[in-house]
Amino acid sequence: MKRRNFFKKIILGIVGIETGYLVFDSFKKKKKKAVSKDLFEAGRIDSFEKNRIYPFNSGKFYLSVFENGGMLAISIKCTHLGCIVQPDNNGFLCPCHASAFDKHGEVVSPPAMRALDIFPIVVSDGKILVDTNSPIKRKGFKKSQLTFV
Ligand code: FES
Repeated sequence: MKRRNFFKKIILGIVGIETGYLVFDSFKKKKKKAVSKDLFEAGRIDSFEKNRIYPFNSGKFYLSVFENGGMLAISIKCTHLGCIVQPDNNGFLCPCHASAFDKHGEVVSPPAMRALDIFPIVVSDGKILVDTNSPIKRKGFKKSQLTFV
């Protein structure tokens, strides 16, 4: 009787560990798929030239590629009252109340008081992916915000 209970406990323990592993693994896979599904695919790295601003209206951002190769995914939404900013002479201009931003999205002319938001950029399999669900509010531009590929 003792021996039978011993083996029963061992088998139940193995089944429990195996079930826990399968549940944990399936959760990990679902989470990984959800993250990659939410990223906006901007294109292959080699399709972007330096010193240019690429509009992605459906992703609601501009991809700015600077002379040093750094990139920013800058929100199209003005930080004053939310109008759509337009690229203008190496920067951005808001048509609603004339706020102006430089090429990094910093305020050059109010009424906007805060730099344009940016989105995280991920490089994967030679492609630029932008996490448009995670806007980053910022006071100004810092070199650490740039993504280099
Ligand atoms: S909404 Fe852009 S300046 Fe007012």
